[in-house]
Amino acid sequence: MSSSAKPKIMAVVGARPNFMKVAPIWREMDKTNRFAKFLLHTGQHYDANMSKIFFEDLKLPEPDAYLGVGSGTHAEQTGRIMIALDDVLLDERPDLVMVVGDVNSTMAAALVAVKHEIPVAHVEAGLRSFDRSMPEEINRMVTDIVAELLFTTCSDAEKNLLREGVDPQKIHFVGNVMIDSLHYYKSMAESSRILENLALEKHAYGLVTIHRPTNVDDVATLQNIIDALLVLGEECPLIFPVHPRTRKIIDANDLEIPPGKLRLIEPIGYLDFIKLMKYARILLTDSGGIQEETTALGIPCLTIRENTERPITIEMGTNRLVGMVKNRIVDEGRKALRFGIKDSRIPDLWDGKASVRIVKVFETYFS
Ligand code: UD1
Repeated sequence: MSSSAKPKIMAVVGARPNFMKVAPIWREMDKTNRFAKFLLHTGQHYDANMSKIFFEDLKLPEPDAYLGVGSGTHAEQTGRIMIALDDVLLDERPDLVMVVGDVNSTMAAALVAVKHEIPVAHVEAGLRSFDRSMPEEINRMVTDIVAELLFTTCSDAEKNLLREGVDPQKIHFVGNVMIDSLHYYKSMAESSRILENLALEKHAYGLVTIHRPTNVDDVATLQNIIDALLVLGEECPLIFPVHPRTRKIIDANDLEIPPGKLRLIEPIGYLDFIKLMKYARILLTDSGGIQEETTALGIPCLTIRENTERPITIEMGTNRLVGMVKNRIVDEGRKALRFGIKDSRIPDLWDGKASVRIVKVFETYFS
């Protein structure tokens, strides 16, 4: 970088949960105008309703580069990203590569950047489920080991990193960029017509998302979860935007879901989803980000998993781990519908300003 040039920051996005994490940081960088920005999309997610609609809803600019890697095994996907990104890094020579979250694109980009001796910033560092059978856990650990700037959302993330021997100077507790987006877009989401389109009354339905390999790749497990949702649907109609991975398994195995109380719909955009979430009585999910968003919104969330890398949403927030056994999901669902979840609080620095803190750290880093 020449002394007069602005430091060039490349942000790498690839999958649906990346987009709303980069958007507030991108906006903040526009405001300060201290950096040259380069947005790279790996193409890990490529369906219009998994990618394009998020760029539109979030008003993210068109990516400066699109790698078009698509789906495949983890090795294929990670390998394709690494090979394609190698060339882009040689051409673009950014001063820093920023990655977010824990998807394959995150880890692949971090590995390539560090081998080019380009510093890596990891947004959402230090989260651990302590379950190495989760691909995301490996992605998180590898990314954190090579990162130079580690931005954390909560104190347990910092503890995890220190225990793994990360230099404390590299760790910056900045808060949660996912919540920055939630705050920023919440009022815009009000104009979404999704409730009318689905003929839903506010606070009279539940919302479901299920896509983790451990929940959907094994048909018996998926069937078991669907059975639980069908029972709960009798008490509170459930809307289920179906992730392509889940859709594939449902279709391939001809799983029967009678029309009615559990309504399957196509994946939806960010603003529609926020509106649906805001007026839901309950969320049932295996997503990571939704555990955080429901805590920020104060809506009961039942997480259909055995563990979570976001324990703060249970300790302080509205989240409850309910596992994958049908009767437990039904019992906990009934309880949450009847009594809600009491005494939740919003974690420190989940205040909509994480991106401001991140950009300040970048400024100090390059000063
Ligand atoms: C990925 C992330 C996961 C994240 C999720 C959010 C990894 C290891 N996993 O999982 O952490 O919670 O994104 O959605 O990075 N597919 C399509 N169209 C698309 C994208 C995917 O049809 O636009 C289908 C393909 O059949 C593909 C499958 O979904 O094989 C899985 O996609 P993939 O990107 O491998 O992982 P996700 O399950 O989406």
